[in-house]
Amino acid sequence: MKIETKIAKFKLLTPIVCASGTVGFGQELIGLCDFSSIGAITTKTITLNSREGNPPPRIYESGEGVLNSVGLENPGLEGFIEEKLPKLKNLKTKCIVSVGGFSINEYKTIVKALGSKKDVHALEINLSCPNLQLKKLISQDEKATYQITKSLRKLTKKPLIIKITPEVTDIVKIAKMVEKAGADAIAMVNTFFSMAINIETQKPFLGNGYGGYSGRAIKPMSLYRVWRVAQNVKIPIIGGGGIETASDAIEFILAGATAVSLGTINLVNPNSAQSVLKGIKNYMKRKKITGIEAIRGAI
Ligand SMILES: Cc1cc2nc3c(=O)[nH]c(=O)nc-3n(C[C@H](O)[C@H](O)[C@H](O)COP(=O)(O)O)c2cc1C
Repeated sequence: MKIETKIAKFKLLTPIVCASGTVGFGQELIGLCDFSSIGAITTKTITLNSREGNPPPRIYESGEGVLNSVGLENPGLEGFIEEKLPKLKNLKTKCIVSVGGFSINEYKTIVKALGSKKDVHALEINLSCPNLQLKKLISQDEKATYQITKSLRKLTKKPLIIKITPEVTDIVKIAKMVEKAGADAIAMVNTFFSMAINIETQKPFLGNGYGGYSGRAIKPMSLYRVWRVAQNVKIPIIGGGGIETASDAIEFILAGATAVSLGTINLVNPNSAQSVLKGIKNYMKRKKITGIEAIRGAI
């Protein structure tokens, strides 16, 4: 049974990727999970300068999902290179480093700096960061998405994955820009804008007022977007948003995802990849499928 998958030249031993912001820098998983179930982990997004993040509370469970407003807390490029990067080689899986920024130059500096680091197996560009001039998220704008992807593509030979926001009128248009600009893959979806209000204090539950919604509640919306994009671009998709079980993951693969991402579920069960992978294998056995590629986009 073949469960490996490929994103350009980037080989994943399983189709399961841990989503950015939900597994720290990978060290946090040691002793808590079976790394052989995970094709790759994605680090917390790093920015050029270190960030303390948003005021607490930063996490609030609401309905069938989770609101977060972490605010990109991270050690910054220098801190990452000094403290986190040397430990990545201890991980028994591949590592995708998530890159964020508040200007195109910030993204460029980070991508250039990480280009020569052998323990960085791929770069994921988080385009859900705000574009300060346009006053919207970068991946809410077709032109900005194209320009930044194109300029980063020129700077690195590492697999370049572009992560986009679902908060757009037509996600296909954005995905096409990512493909046209030469990225190797699209990661989708990031969180949905959302809020929850405490009626006793008459204040929002999150310190920041609002945040991003993730987890089980968003699955049907993410799945629909992955399906739409898969029908319109040829580059691979790392699809997710609300995946908790093998059956959820298989839905995303049937909709066209090459790999699937597990995010919020890692906060509940850091070993969720193991049960998801086991379930995918059982399904393949039951359906007499010898390679995962046979069901990709099969609906
Ligand atoms: C606590 C938390 C922190 C996150 N931080 C990041 C981040 O730094 N960069 C990023 O691209 N996505 C971040 N995300 C979004 C996830 O990577 C993922 O795209 C999203 O949560 C949807 O998937 P899920 O429903 O499986 O969690 C974060 C999500 C959560 C819950």
